[in-house]
Amino acid sequence: MLVKPGRVDGCHIVNFPKVSDYRGNLSFIEESRQIPFAIKRVYYLYDVPSGASRGGHAHKELEQIVIALSGSFDVILDDGDSRRTFFLNRPHYGLYIPSGIWRELENFSSNSVALSLVSQVYDELDYLREYEEFKQWVTNNAGTEQGPRDYR
Ligand code: TYD
Repeated sequence: MLVKPGRVDGCHIVNFPKVSDYRGNLSFIEESRQIPFAIKRVYYLYDVPSGASRGGHAHKELEQIVIALSGSFDVILDDGDSRRTFFLNRPHYGLYIPSGIWRELENFSSNSVALSLVSQVYDELDYLREYEEFKQWVTNNAGTEQGPRDYR
């Protein structure tokens, strides 16, 4: 499937329900209500050393929600034209990233856990791991008929 590259203005925060009482907070995620794709895989980053950065790639088709389940970090997004940075620091917010967006995760606080809900099983062929390759892919796909998968 050919997917038109996403735009950073299509990246947005998703607010998950939060139930609070004297025992603490509880949040939940229902795919059909808060997630604009079928969740095929869940993975998480943890024990990230201070100063390390993660990501440094784009995906041709994969869509993603990133959640700071614990701690905080920055997510720097780039569509080949514009850049946008989100600071994630609460477990009841998720960041939606459509396909075709270059992402870097940086400035992890200690004990951060970055949970990702994604639309594809792991497939190395879906990755664009070199920035120049990503830029070329954006150029090549910019005029494709299939609309951007831009959920707001
Ligand atoms: P990578 O996607 O580069 O990590 P990040 O974007 O968080 O910095 O993945 C790092 C390694 O882990 C790479 O060898 C692929 C492997 N991997 C899997 O085997 N399965 C997965 O679901 C993910 C996300 C990565």
